Amino acid sequence: MTDLVPLAAVDPAAIEALLDRAFGADRFARTAYKVRGSATAIAHLSFAAVDGGVPVGSIQCWPVALALDAGGAVPLVMVGPVAVDPARQQGGLGRRLVGATLAAATGEAERLMLIGDPDYYGRFFGFSAARTAAWRLPGPVERHRLLARGDAVPDAAGMLGSA
Ligand SMILES: CC(C)(COP(=O)(O)OP(=O)(O)OC[C@H]1O[C@@H](n2cnc3c(N)ncnc32)[C@H](O)[C@@H]1OP(=O)(O)O)[C@@H](O)C(=O)NCCC(=O)NCCS
Repeated sequence: MTDLVPLAAVDPAAIEALLDRAFGADRFARTAYKVRGSATAIAHLSFAAVDGGVPVGSIQCWPVALALDAGGAVPLVMVGPVAVDPARQQGGLGRRLVGATLAAATGEAERLMLIGDPDYYGRFFGFSAARTAAWRLPGPVERHRLLARGDAVPDAAGMLGSA
């Protein structure tokens, strides 16, 4: 049986190894890592899927903000990486992990963003690129993969970075 537990309950080194397996060891060069900077994952929104004590999936969320060109900054939550062990993909774990985060995001539900496949995060969870066209990031991003969800997400020009 696979249980979801708080990410903090799992050995961080095992999560890093899982992320390497899901994304490759060059994952640190990704723009998402630059956006979140040296922030600490938001504990109540971050989970691990554990099977017999072994982590087989994880989701991490980070405090970020859009610094508006017009002034001020809007706090957002960056969801991801979502990682499922390659041997366990396509079995519903990714959906369980994202679902757990969405269920826990009571105060943050209207201001979520991520970089990911719209065919997955749009289809199952309602994320879209409708409000992100004018956002700038500290690295390259495919615009159709820059997704957000919620009424508090700004449809405005600005720079995305750590909060
Ligand atoms: C993407 C990922 C999190 C999905 O989790 P998963 O447990 O494998 O997928 P689920 O079982 O929850 O969902 C399966 C469904 O989603 C679809 N799906 C899975 N990955 C998809 C993707 N990248 N794009 C579009 N659809 C996808 C499948 O086709 C399947 O659809 P179906 O039910 O109609 O057959 C997982 O495959 C993974 O870790 N991949 C590598 C890392 C990655 O790319 N992470 C996402 C970026 S943050």
